[in-house]
Amino acid sequence: GRPLKVALLGYGVVGSQVIRLMREQAADLAARIGAPLELAGVAVRRPGRVRSVEVDPSLITTDAEALVTREDVDIVVEVIGGIEPARSLILAAMNSGKSVVTANKALLAEDGATIHAAARDNTVDLYFEAAVAGAIPLIRPMRESLAGDHVHRVLGIVNGTTNYILDKMDSSGASFSEALEEAQALGYAEADPTADVEGFDAAAKAAILAGIAFHSRVTAADVHREGITEITAADVAGAKEMGYVIKLLAICARSEDGRSFGVRVHPAMIPRTHPLAGVREAYNAVFVEAESAGRLMFYGAGAGGAPTASAVLGDIVAVARNRLAGTCGPEESTYADLTVHPMGET
Ligand code: HSE
Repeated sequence: GRPLKVALLGYGVVGSQVIRLMREQAADLAARIGAPLELAGVAVRRPGRVRSVEVDPSLITTDAEALVTREDVDIVVEVIGGIEPARSLILAAMNSGKSVVTANKALLAEDGATIHAAARDNTVDLYFEAAVAGAIPLIRPMRESLAGDHVHRVLGIVNGTTNYILDKMDSSGASFSEALEEAQALGYAEADPTADVEGFDAAAKAAILAGIAFHSRVTAADVHREGITEITAADVAGAKEMGYVIKLLAICARSEDGRSFGVRVHPAMIPRTHPLAGVREAYNAVFVEAESAGRLMFYGAGAGGAPTASAVLGDIVAVARNRLAGTCGPEESTYADLTVHPMGET
C-alpha cells in the first residue's frame, strides 16, 4: 500500500527512540502494517539539539502547527508532554483528520474529555498506551480485552522513580534525599523531581486508569494524592522490621454498592510476601480485578526511552492498520453514572 506518513512532535528521550525503532525495524513494520511508515517531519523547539545522523535535517522543523496540519500527514505522534502546546497541536491534528498517538498523561488527566471528544467528532484514532506504565500493555487490554467484563479495582505501582527511591531506602537504609540523588544520577528522576516524588505523575496515571476502568470522566483533581517526601529511613526500617515494605500505590476502587468509586495515590505498607513487594528498582506493576477475569497482574518497565517507545510504536502500528482499513479503534463515550469520592473513600 501507499506509505503512511508519521509526524513526530518532540525529540526527547522517547521521541529519539521512536525514530530509531522506526528506522531499524522499517521492513518488519511495513510487513506487519501492509504499508511502509515514512517519517514526514519532526517538530522541535531547538533544532540544534537533533543530530543529523539520527534525523535527516530537512525533516526538522520548529513549526509544529504547520506540520500537524500538512495534507500528506496521516499520523501525529505527540511526545512533548505537558498541557500546552501539546493540547492545541493534538486538536489541530485531529481537526485536520490525523490520527493521534500520545504519551501525554498530564494532558489526558487534566483535559482528556476535550481530546476524546475531538477524536470522536473527527472520526480519528486516539491511542495512548505509553501514557501509563511505559512498556506495559495496560490501556489496550483494559479498553479492548476487558471490554466484556466489569472492573472492580485497579491497584498498583505506576511510578518508576518513586519505586526506585523507596526500594533503595529499603535495601540500603538510605535516606530519602540520598536515594533521590541516586535516582537522579541514574537518570530515573528528572532534575525537578516534584511530579514524581509528590505523586502528581502517579495521580495522572491513576485518573486515566480509573476513567477507563469505570467508563467515567476522571481528572487529576479527583485523585486524593500524597507523595513520598515525608518518608524517613526510620519509617522504612520500622516497616521492614514488622515484615512490610513501603510502596507508593495508585488505587482506583468501586464502592461496595458499585455506584461510586474513589481514586487515590499514597504510600502504603505492603506485606513482604505480597507480589507488589517484589517490584524492585524502577519497575511498575498493576493489578486489575474484574468480575469474571478475576485478578490480573501486569508487570514490567514503567519508564525509560526504549520501553516507552515500544508502547508508542505498538500504537503507531495499530493506528496505521486502522487507517488502511478505513476504521477507527475504540473510542468509547463515558456513560457510567458513577460518583467520584473527592477524598477517595471506598
Ligand atoms: N517519571 C515517570 C516514572 C516516567 O518515574 O514512572 C514514566 O511516566
